[in-house]
Amino acid sequence: MTRAAIEEGQLGGRRLRRVVFSADQVRTRVHELAGEISSAYRAEDRLLVIGLLKGSFIFLADLVREIKIPLQVDFLVAASYGVGKTTSGDVRLLYDPASLLEGRAVLVVEDIIDSGTTLRKVLPQLASRGPASLEVCALLHKRLKPVDLEPRWVGFDAPNEFLVGYGLDHAEDFRHLPYIASL
Ligand code: IMP
Ligand code: MG
Repeated sequence: MTRAAIEEGQLGGRRLRRVVFSADQVRTRVHELAGEISSAYRAEDRLLVIGLLKGSFIFLADLVREIKIPLQVDFLVAASYGVGKTTSGDVRLLYDPASLLEGRAVLVVEDIIDSGTTLRKVLPQLASRGPASLEVCALLHKRLKPVDLEPRWVGFDAPNEFLVGYGLDHAEDFRHLPYIASL
């Protein structure tokens, strides 16, 4: 991606190391994922897409708009990072989806899988509510080690760098970048 394509005003003078996935690459991949998800479910599955906040908010918004079957959306807040760049290992559930999960196809949408701690905490709790199926769609996967429940859909294998943009933050900054960059 060319330097000109980076909106300097969004960065407020701070520097990124490099753009890892451009806005075009992300758009193309999200379109592909939505196509695969659309054919994996039927209307009768009563698909419930649960976004893990905050990181998934842009990915989820783009993804659901391209899914061609009926669905509902809910969110879950699980915070595993403070202001640092490494996981604290402590996952707090700040908001639980109010939706009834029983008998439904549940698709959890996650921004990035790093250590896998967040999903290891969250998935058993969702599974205990009796969904007919429980799958994960992660935009990025660092593939540092095998995770308990590998996501059925992954947007991109991510380099082992700290990534920001397209929903991902560093200390709450950079979420609004339309591309994914390393810091
Ligand atoms: P895990 O629990 O270690 O798999 O980390 C998952 C969560 O940590 C993600 O949902 C992100 O919010 C955050 N995270 C992990 N890696 C990165 C990164 O490279 N940039 C920004 N956030 C990250
Ligand atoms: Mg985060």
